[in-house]
Amino acid sequence: MLLAMTALPGRVETMQWNQNTPIDEVVSYPGFGDWGRLIFPADEGYYSGSTLGDLRLTWYSNIQPAKTVEIVNTLRERADAGEQLFYPIYSEAEVAADPWKADTGLFFFRGKPGARFAICKVTNPCLSIWQGPFTRRYTMEYFTLNNGIKMPMAGIGVFMMSPAEAEAAVESALRSGVRLIDTANGYMNESGTGRGIRNSGVAREDIFLVTKLWPTVYGKATAIDETLQRLGTDYIDLLFLHQPTDNWREGYRAIEKAYKEGKVKAIGLSNFPDELLLEAIDTMEIMPQVVQVEAHPYFPQTELKQILTRTGMALMAWYPLGHGDKTLIQQPVFTELAEKYGKTNAQIILRWHVQSGNIVIPGSKNPAHIRDNFDIFDFALTDDDMAAIAKLNSGVRYYTATPELIAAYATMELRPDL
Ligand SMILES: NC(=O)c1ccc[n+]([C@@H]2O[C@H](COP(=O)([O-])OP(=O)(O)OC[C@H]3O[C@@H](n4cnc5c(N)ncnc54)[C@H](OP(=O)(O)O)[C@@H]3O)[C@@H](O)[C@H]2O)c1
Repeated sequence: MLLAMTALPGRVETMQWNQNTPIDEVVSYPGFGDWGRLIFPADEGYYSGSTLGDLRLTWYSNIQPAKTVEIVNTLRERADAGEQLFYPIYSEAEVAADPWKADTGLFFFRGKPGARFAICKVTNPCLSIWQGPFTRRYTMEYFTLNNGIKMPMAGIGVFMMSPAEAEAAVESALRSGVRLIDTANGYMNESGTGRGIRNSGVAREDIFLVTKLWPTVYGKATAIDETLQRLGTDYIDLLFLHQPTDNWREGYRAIEKAYKEGKVKAIGLSNFPDELLLEAIDTMEIMPQVVQVEAHPYFPQTELKQILTRTGMALMAWYPLGHGDKTLIQQPVFTELAEKYGKTNAQIILRWHVQSGNIVIPGSKNPAHIRDNFDIFDFALTDDDMAAIAKLNSGVRYYTATPELIAAYATMELRPDL
């Protein structure tokens, strides 16, 4: 069993990174030449809570960071209400002392690459022009895998999406700051996922890309290269065996080979029962790094977690929101906590996952949900909150594997993924 540890497995770290906001349209504003009316990119994370709060107008936040957050939050509300996005910088008292300041405010522009913003007097040309770019700061928690690789703890899954839907969702997610993408041969949308990655303009090395081999190709010598080709990449950050069909050992050896060749950076097992997981740990050369299983507050995988803790393996939760089950999402405890923290019920559930050590990949085609699902790193549930959620553990799962189902997967052929 090969276990190359360079960092403490399981360790969770918070990291931040900056990203310049892409800007691609200027709307002209009378009197300001090509300086635009205030328009935030609608598909960006500008109204996604902490992302927005963290948005730094670099020059301004250096002077007044708290004020910047206030401005941006106000802008969000006003944008959501359909107002023009102009924010007067000075308070009423400041304006009373200096009437010149009355119509001085902050304009935001959706402009050409290299965002620009300006402090202008509404009736006069801009007094000062500040050349962008906008810098937004994102926060993410990372799980250190048992081979030292750091994996983001929240991302997006594209199960049950057409290639075009996956393309749109992945692009939207990456533009909102998401950096973890989960797909599979079996979703037949890896090509769309690859296009979404390329459309986003986010560098490949900044993305943690996860996919899964389907049982019918476990023994196919070219399966991993074909997967790389569909995704349009030359490596996969984490490659799973999707199902524990009888030929899984052959599939595992293929992944191990790709791992040694550098085509795969981490190995995972999905839907494996404990006994097969233990067999893999005991008999295979390379220790798996991650398991992907159904997990949510109704079924928190308490027993499996004991094996994982012992081996430094991470749990990636599928159906983290119960596949959108409203009876789960609307449980009163989530509504109560959502009110307490100013978050949505879904965000509370996802935060519970992360604090339980689970990596989450909620699926969504809705850009607002995609942003919300990523915006869970600016608050923490208390021990009491976590205990209240733990009471929902009822041992109920949405999916039960049967021997017949597993056998059927072994012959379920993939359709072409376009
Ligand atoms: N390994 C496996 O065998 C396996 C099996 C199943 C899934 N998975 C992986 O796990 C991922 C997640 O599973 P899933 O997508 O089926 O289930 P899920 O993430 O638990 O739930 C997705 C559903 O929740 C809704 N939703 C998402 N964000 C929301 C929000 N903020 N507020 C309210 N509703 C929200 C979505 O609708 P909207 O589109 O309207 O947002 C969608 O209907 C999959 O995409 C896939 O990557 C793996």
